[in-house]
Parts: sequence; structure tokens; C-alpha cells
Amino acid sequence: MIVNTPTMLVRTLCSLIAMAATTVVAADFAALPKTATLETDSPQIIALGKKLFFDPRLSATGTVSCNSCHNLMEGGDDGRATSMGVDGLTGGRNSPTVWNAVFQSSQFWDGRAKDLAEQAKGPFVADVEMGMGVHDQVVGRIQQIPDYVREFDNVFGQGNAVTIDNAVTAIAAFERTLITPNAPLDHYLAGDKNALTDAQVRGMDLFQSTGCTECHFGPALNGWDPGDDEAVFVEFPRNLDSSFVRKYDLDSDRGRAEATQQESDAHQFKTPVLRNITLTAPYMHNGNVASLAEACRVMASTQLDTDLSEDEISDLVAFMESLVGEFPPITLPRLPSRSGTSVVVEFK
Ligand code: HEC
Ligand code: HEC
Repeated sequence: MIVNTPTMLVRTLCSLIAMAATTVVAADFAALPKTATLETDSPQIIALGKKLFFDPRLSATGTVSCNSCHNLMEGGDDGRATSMGVDGLTGGRNSPTVWNAVFQSSQFWDGRAKDLAEQAKGPFVADVEMGMGVHDQVVGRIQQIPDYVREFDNVFGQGNAVTIDNAVTAIAAFERTLITPNAPLDHYLAGDKNALTDAQVRGMDLFQSTGCTECHFGPALNGWDPGDDEAVFVEFPRNLDSSFVRKYDLDSDRGRAEATQQESDAHQFKTPVLRNITLTAPYMHNGNVASLAEACRVMASTQLDTDLSEDEISDLVAFMESLVGEFPPITLPRLPSRSGTSVVVEFK
């Protein structure tokens, strides 16, 4: 023991120094974790969740799947200002990407779902999304497809395995695989100083010095640090005098207050993920801002009451280009069928 003490002391000191050093570097930016799957996410449950994600038969009209509004073959969104669900109906909010959505402590712009599984229950029964009246109808559709029933039984155990809770558990397991590590920023943080261009480094410095990192910090630049499960909300727009507030109608959506009905939650929003942000125009909760450059102007003005020069805006945009990561290859799943009859069209 006595012999060991100095060594232990040195070790402790070293790890304290290392911790302090990591905190300094990681305070604002951090590499995106390379995996987000849980121990319970077996290949079978992930494969089932993937099928459900791509299956339009789980919508009232048989035309809308999760992938319709969260296109995994591109940015994980739909490129529209506001999404279009069954019967051409549109809602009031922009579809956020599902890529890296796992790295958030709450889901939806107003954080009204605590995790991916709870979130996935919403769209099935939202009138302007998949339009099924109640969850039992979703379960009913799945139950009519024998190979789905067998697959649910295999994954969740025999007997009444087709439930909405099991369906969203599987979807969430699949969504935990939708992550894009190894972006140029990650290589840079790992020590490859050539991974970013000069403009990107300037943009990164400006992103910190202007104050964007007050909200956009951590691996997904959304104010989330690994292990955080406390949901955090910030005020948007903060500077109501900004001319952008009226121009883009940024204050009629009351954000979190729409979900909680609490006046104190008015205009509180979750800070969104900025990974792959170049792929998910248009921007903001209402999709009213067409370009990334304009989104940066809006943020500087509404959140930090600052005007940036056009050179500075272009450096910020360059920095955001360094946030596009590696997308895992995704093959379209083969969906199980009911032999001889459709499950969507009911004939009398
Ligand atoms: C009609 C288009 C549409 C469909 C279909 C749809 N979504 Fe969404 N999704 C949206 C919109 C719009 C939002 C944001 C709504 C809000 O915040 O109020 C959203 C939010 C989300 C989020 C939260 C992301 C974040 O950053 O907060 C996840 C995860 C998600 N959807 C997954 C799914 C899954 C899984 C399905 C299928 C069960 C699905 N969506 C079906 C449009 C759609
Ligand atoms: C006080 C917190 C805060 C600060 C500071 C801040 N942001 Fe944001 N940012 C947010 C919130 C909240 C949103 C979502 C706004 C909404 O609901 O439409 C957002 C949205 C964005 C978006 C659009 C995301 C999307 O998916 O549509 C971009 C891009 C962005 N911020 C970049 C920046 C930049 C660049 C800066 C610095 C100039 C900055 N932000 C400063 C909180 C902040």
C-alpha cells in the first residue's frame, strides 16, 4: 500500500489533468459516438423495426411510411417546409432528420416525447401524418400479415406479441442504428488538422466566439452531452426586435407551451441537431427559412442580437459542411405480405 501510494497519487493527478484537458476540448465540440445501440437491440429486433419504418401499409391510405417524411436515402427529412401526410394534408412543422435523433434528450421540436419509442407512437395516429384513427388499427393491420406476426413472436416471445409498444420498441432499436460518425469535424477533433479547410476552421472559431455554442454544443451540436437525460429547452426567438421574427413568422408557434399548456413554456424549443444540417433545408420549426446561410443570419440576429458579415456567414456555412458524416449503407427491406388480399383496401 505504502509503496503504491506515490504511483497512485501520480495516476490520480494524471487523470485529473486529463479530465480537465478533455473538458476544455470537449466543452463545445465532441466526436459523435460510433454506436448508440443498446444491449437489447438484437439484429432481429433492428430488422423488424426497419420493416415497420419502411411500411406504408401502416397508414390509413397505404401511402405514407415513416420514410416518406424521413427519407433515409437522403437527409432523413422530406425537403419540404412542412410535411405532407395522408390525403395531402400538411401540418405546421418541419420534419427534423431522424439521422442521429438518438443523440437527443427529448424528441420533437417542443420535446413532447421523452425518447424514440414514445415519439414513434405519435405519427401513426396523427391526422396529418399516417392518419390511423387509433393504435389498435395499426396493430390490426400488422396482425393480418402472418409473417409479421411470426416475426413479432420470434423477437418478443410467443403470444400477443403484436402490440403498439413492441412495434415502437422495434422502430426505436432501428433508429438507434441511424448515426453518422466520422465527419470531417470528428477527424479534426481526433487530431487530423488537415480534415478541415481554412474556412471551416474560421467558421468553427466564429461559431464559438459569436456564442452559437451557448446552445449548440456537444457531439450533435444540440446542447446534449453523452449520458444527459435531462431535457433542456431554450428560448426562440430570444430577440423579438429582430426583423426576421415577422419576416419568417417565428413567434406564432408557441413551442413547448403548445404541448404543456404552461405559459412559462411559451417559445421554448429544443436546440436541434446540427449534424448533416446541409442536407435538411428548409430550416426552423416552420421550415420558412430556405437556405443555411439565411438560417445562420436568423440565428445570429434572433438568438445573439448580432449582425454577421457575409464573409462570416460563409465561414459558418463552411463549418457546417464539416458536420456531414458517414452514412451507413441501407438496403430496402423485403416486407412480408398477406397472400392474395390487400390489408389496405377493405372489400365488402
Ligand atoms: C407526414 C410526415 C411524417 C411521418 C409520416 C412521420 N413523421 Fe416523424 N416527424 C414529422 C414531423 C413534421 C416532425 C416534427 C413534429 C413536431 O416537432 O411537432 C417529426 C418528428 C419526428 C422525430 C423527432 C426528431 C427530432 O429531432 O425531434 C422522430 C424521431 C420521428 N419523427 C420519427 C418518425 C417515425 C419513427 C415515424 C413512423 C412511425 C414518423 N416519424 C413518421 C413528420 C413525419
Ligand atoms: C440561445 C440558444 C441558441 C443560440 C445562441 C443559437 N441557436 Fe441555433 N437554434 C436554437 C434553437 C432553439 C433552434 C430551433 C429554432 C426553431 O425552433 O425553429 C436553432 C436552430 C438552428 C438552425 C436550424 C436548424 C434546423 O434544423 O432547422 C441552425 C442552422 C442554427 N440554429 C445555427 C446556429 C448558429 C450558426 C448560431 C450562432 C450564430 C446559433 N444557431 C445560435 C438555439 C440557439
